[in-house]
Amino acid sequence: MKEIPRIIELPKILDKRGNLSFVEYPGQIPFEIYRTYWIYDVPGGEIRGSHAFKEQLEFIIALSGSFDVVLHNGAEEVKYSLNRSYYGLYVPKMHWRRIENFSTNSLALIVSDSAFSESDYIRDFDEFKELKNGK
Ligand code: TYD
Repeated sequence: MKEIPRIIELPKILDKRGNLSFVEYPGQIPFEIYRTYWIYDVPGGEIRGSHAFKEQLEFIIALSGSFDVVLHNGAEEVKYSLNRSYYGLYVPKMHWRRIENFSTNSLALIVSDSAFSESDYIRDFDEFKELKNGK
């Protein structure tokens, strides 16, 4: 299941005082958490991402507001709309991803299995397709 992108629903502890959700390995996601970062203050119409990772695995949550994550597996593109803080999208390695259609004040939390490494990025879509399709 490490190769398949999917929406993962997180636990939701309902409480009159306010709700609580969490993400833990191995309970919710298929990798151990090493790093987390977040994207915020995105001006209307901007697109983040547009790259793939050779090895990195990610889990993306819309902690606030909404946005779309568009994944390309080398053959086809699928759009996932994230708009709740109690589910997220698991992004396997070697999937081209871009994040777009950010609502005002949206907050994207990205949980990663590895340290930041520029050499793990593929930033050219043609190169990605060639690597993916073994050309
Ligand atoms: P990048 O991953 O290219 O942004 P996005 O895909 O969301 O559009 O990262 C933007 C810049 O931030 C890039 O110069 C690398 C730097 N960066 C770090 O230094 N550490 C990190 O953990 C991340 C995610 C990015």
